Parts: sequence; structure tokens; C-alpha cells
Amino acid sequence: MNVEFYERIWMWAAVGLLVIFLGTIVVTAASNAVHPPSHMETIDPATLADNPEFGNPAVKEQPDGSVVVSVVAQMFSFSPDPIEIPANRPVTFRITSGDVIHGFEIVGTNANAMAIPGYVSQFTITFKNPGEYLIGCNEYCGLLHHTMVGKVIVKEATR
Ligand code: CUA
Repeated sequence: MNVEFYERIWMWAAVGLLVIFLGTIVVTAASNAVHPPSHMETIDPATLADNPEFGNPAVKEQPDGSVVVSVVAQMFSFSPDPIEIPANRPVTFRITSGDVIHGFEIVGTNANAMAIPGYVSQFTITFKNPGEYLIGCNEYCGLLHHTMVGKVIVKEATR
């Protein structure tokens, strides 16, 4: 089969681009510790208010010094807000939704999960730098989606 010289160049250029694009995805995913969700837990969204954990979502310190934050996302806010947590300690976020699918992204970190009615999303993160972080909802959830923000306040650990 005879392939024109210029066509050959463009074929290899196209292959090269594919390799570069896929490589970019792999490298950024690895360097930013991106990984798919691995926690599977269901919950009845209709009885959230009576749920011992999510009926009163809050930041709870565990006996071992770690921190668990239960979060309910609901049009168009997060509860609790603000979320006050200590720096340099593992913080486990447990997130669910009371209505539709929302996003829970802590801007500037790799904390990013979906809040899905009927499910609890969970991840653990340690904040090294005290300060204020913005929480954004990154799933379109209704007319005021763009106003759905929250705040994480990371405080210097006092221990
Ligand atoms: Cu909640 Cu968009």
C-alpha cells in the first residue's frame, strides 16, 4: 500500500497529538492525586431530618483526634456553613444531598465529590495551610446554582 509522504507526516502528527493529550491526563491525574470515588453507602433522602448524623450535620471530633464533618447539600446551600476544622489533622467529609445532585468542591484542593440524594460521598483530607477555602457546587442544580457556595475555615491546630 502506498501512502503519500505528506499523508504519512499527518498520520504520525495525529498519533503524536493523541499520545500527548492522553499523557497529559495521566500526568495531571497522578500529580493531583485524582482518583475515582471508592465509598459506597446508601441513605434514605426522605428521612434525612430524622437521621442521627445528617439530621443535624456538624463537625465532630473523634476520640483519636481525627475529625468527621457531616454535610448536607440542599438547594442552594451547604450545612453546616462555615465548616471549621483544624489544620494538620485528617478530616473525613461525609456528604449527602437532601434534594437533587449537587457538587462539593473545595476550591484550590483536590477535595471534590458529588452530593447525591440516597448516597453518602466520603473522602479524607488533611489541610496543611490554615485559612479560608471556598466550597463550590459544581453540578448544575437549579436556578440559583451559581449562588450555592460555602466556606471552610481551617484553623491552626491547638493541641
Ligand atoms: Cu447545588 Cu449547583
